[in-house]
Parts: sequence; structure tokens; C-alpha cells
Amino acid sequence: SARRPLIAGNWKMNGLRADARALADEIGTLRKNKSQDAFDLLICPPFSVIETVGHVLDSTGIFLGAQDCHTAEKGAHTGDVSAAMLKDAGCSHVILGHSERRTNHKESNELVKQKAIAAHNEGLIAIICVGETETERENGKTLEVVTAQIKDSVPEGARADNTVIAYEPVWAIGTGKVATPDDVQNVHGDIRKTLAAKLGQETADGIRILYGGSMKPENAKELLALPDVDGGLIGGAALKAEDFWAIAQSCP
Ligand code: G3H
Repeated sequence: SARRPLIAGNWKMNGLRADARALADEIGTLRKNKSQDAFDLLICPPFSVIETVGHVLDSTGIFLGAQDCHTAEKGAHTGDVSAAMLKDAGCSHVILGHSERRTNHKESNELVKQKAIAAHNEGLIAIICVGETETERENGKTLEVVTAQIKDSVPEGARADNTVIAYEPVWAIGTGKVATPDDVQNVHGDIRKTLAAKLGQETADGIRILYGGSMKPENAKELLALPDVDGGLIGGAALKAEDFWAIAQSCP
């Protein structure tokens, strides 16, 4: 497709300074040797090492992102970080509404949407995550759940240059279970239709939709070749430079 693939590493709550620096350096070195690649690379470390990792990635062309932000610009919100702070720390992207946040912090679609608006207001690219649970899938509710998440979590101001969607079936995250290519294409195609109804066909055609959930070097090629899969949101395999790089190399 005309959409440039995005391979994003979500480090989750992993990375003390020395390890984070070493991992970012390894990935940066791999990237520097191949500066003409036809994909974007993004690393989303925990807040505590964003600046550390940012310094290492300087001049590698690899984008820097965070894993969450608050809806407000600043104020009395103990423990939270604003989109303005992320921008100030060197981030270009922020992951929002990851299933671990939706579950562990009870984040609703409406909250995720407000966070995306806050991110957009600061010029950050919001990576909005959606995905069904195992029970929802077993009950045949996958498309219904994902459609509602897209409708209610994606702001009206979403455009191809400020928004990325990540489809992550919850039962595939960190489990080694991967959705079949048919299932993935089916959901991604449906997400694009929902985006088109909401934002117009042209915008929907430009928005990148990533797959996430046990993506590994062994299954990446098949998934990344699907017509509506425009990259990956990688958890576990993003913590090994050679695996992360091998996934990126699997982009069509
Ligand atoms: O954000 C990343 C996803 O939750 C996928 O994690 O690759 O460890 O399954 P995983």
C-alpha cells in the first residue's frame, strides 16, 4: 500500500537506565547501517528513561514515544504526565488506550479520546489501541467491540498524520497466541471501514493500522504482508534488538 509501515516497540514497564541505553544503542546501530529503509521505527520506553533513550536515538532517525499521557496540559494530577511534557522530552508519538491501561486503570473509550485530543493539541501522533478479549471473541463479538472502540476512542480531528490505530487482540498479548492472518485482515479491513464512515475515505486510507499481539520474527512477514496491516506494535520482541530489527526487515 501507499502507507509507510511503522514498526513500534512498546517496552512497557521494562528498562533501567543502563539496559535501556544499551538496547536503544543496539537498535540505533542497526538502523544507521541501513538508512534507506522503507519503514518507520519507533521506540516507546517507560517515562523514566525517555530522555536517556532519546539521547541515544538522536540522529538515528528512530522516533521516540511514550506509553500514556494525561488529558490536561498541567496541574494537580499526581503521578501523571502531560502531552506537553512528552513533547518537551523529545517524543513525537504516544500510545493511548493500550489494553493494559484499559484493564488495569479502567480507561474508557471516552478517556482515551480525550487523551488523544490532548496529544493532538501538542502535535503528538496518537497511537490508539483497540482489541477484543478472549471471551468477546468466543462470543462472536470481535467486530462489534472493536467498532465501538474505534467510534468512541478516535477523536473527530484524527488525520493520517496525527493518528495511528493499533489492533491488539487482548488474548494475543504476551501469550504467544497470534490471530490468524485471515482474522487480522478481517478486523483491520473493518477498522478502516469504521474510520471511513467517521472521518472520510481519504483519511481512512491514509491512517496506519498496526497489528499487535505476540508478533515475532517468525510470524511478522505473513502479518505485515496483509493489505490492511501497516506495521506492528511489538511488546516482548521489542526488548531484543535483533528480533525487533528482524521484524522491521519483514516489512514488504
Ligand atoms: O503493545 C504491545 C502489545 O501489547 C504486544 O505485546 O508483543 O508482548 O504480545 P507482545
